[in-house]
Amino acid sequence: MQKLIIYGPAKLMGEIEVEGAKNAALPILTASILAQNKVIITNIPDIADVRHTIEILKYLGCKVLFENNTVVLDSSSIERFTIPPEYAKLMRSSVLFMGALLSKFRRAELSNHPGGCEIGQRPIDLHISAFRQLGIEVFEHNNRIMCRCDKVKGSEIFLPIPSVGATENIILASIFCDGEVVIKNAAKEPEIADLCHFLNKLGAKIRGAGTHIIKIEGVKRLKSEEVVHKVIPDRIVAGTYLCAVAACGGEVVLKNVFPRHLDSILHILKSSVCKIKELKNEIWIKREERLKGGQRITTHYYPGFPTDLQAPVCSAFAVASGVTIIKETIFENRFKHVPELVKMGADIHVEKDIAMINGVEKLRGCKVFARDLRGGAALFVAGLSAQGVTEVMDADYIDRGYERIEEKYSLLGAKILREKGE
Ligand code: EPU
Repeated sequence: MQKLIIYGPAKLMGEIEVEGAKNAALPILTASILAQNKVIITNIPDIADVRHTIEILKYLGCKVLFENNTVVLDSSSIERFTIPPEYAKLMRSSVLFMGALLSKFRRAELSNHPGGCEIGQRPIDLHISAFRQLGIEVFEHNNRIMCRCDKVKGSEIFLPIPSVGATENIILASIFCDGEVVIKNAAKEPEIADLCHFLNKLGAKIRGAGTHIIKIEGVKRLKSEEVVHKVIPDRIVAGTYLCAVAACGGEVVLKNVFPRHLDSILHILKSSVCKIKELKNEIWIKREERLKGGQRITTHYYPGFPTDLQAPVCSAFAVASGVTIIKETIFENRFKHVPELVKMGADIHVEKDIAMINGVEKLRGCKVFARDLRGGAALFVAGLSAQGVTEVMDADYIDRGYERIEEKYSLLGAKILREKGE
């Protein structure tokens, strides 16, 4: 296991380029098995989850080259429609291969319930029920899910929860549907809009992406031209930088960001004494005085405050003045970073889905354990602001979603080492 050793406290200064979005890159790579020709996808983050997705693509029979944040993919020799358990267990997003494989072969098998960070139960009932509404037969046996159909039928699907994964899976399965599939109460996350943008370049006919009604008009076949696509910037990685500056102080310019994707966190930080300027693809942030707490933050579906930033924002407000209250409404078990922050001297009490943060002057470095991706990033942020040395154990979780995090923050003046942990 990897370990990150952070020598705090850091003051973050300088400019940094934000990487491409994990949660857009993963479905886009999955969708690329449908392309008629070669696809070239740029701004792909070099993170563990992308490497795992590429392993699955190669297993299925695709030819994939991944260099300098660019994937060149040729799916003409794809021959398999089964995702074996060792791959399914690696990531939650392995479930998206179901939709893409159904469009490709009208058959798909996932040999295990999809893995991913343990932040809640994370069922896939909405995916399965939606598939059935599309006329797809779904069999579940011994944790294995098998799907097949003759044709995906046009239908209207209402999602009781605007699930990101279920919305993506329905879109992927419906590309060649008979007539039109309409998703009501669809998730509106920018990563879904990016996936649809990519699929439309391939020749799909999708309207309404980014809104709560998405319409997929079935096409007979996709275009035969080569497609080039650039993945959108990662708003969660960008938000983590903002939380780090809020926690540590300093002055940073984030480049390659879409500020409008970050409205909810920018609003909170602006009301907490951070100075912020938004330019077209840049955000400038400066924090001099102590961060001011006293906010009530509730996680929500986009454009609400993202659950993926709940943990990093917790670390920032752990050292703010006053009491900050955070309510987590999306996942049932997403406060695993709190006991670790408490070890560092934070004063945080969790009751059910609410964390009450009584800001302290300083955190102290110590040995802490990452338990999931964003919780790990929160400990990293806490380590940057803390006095002394913080060892973040099991940093492999962080590597799932942040590209060489220690190198990036070193460019902003932080002192961090990476070691193989015991
Ligand atoms: N849900 C169900 N049934 C389903 C699907 C979802 O009950 O069939 C519930 C979930 O248990 C959860 C809620 O609906 O309580 C929302 O889940 P959603 O399906 O929207 O999440 P996801 O697709 O599993 C994606 C991201 C997560 C991010 C969430 C919410 C990817 C690969 N993952 O997960 O990202 O937290 O949306 O925005 O896109 C991360 O990057 O660290 C991460 C966990």
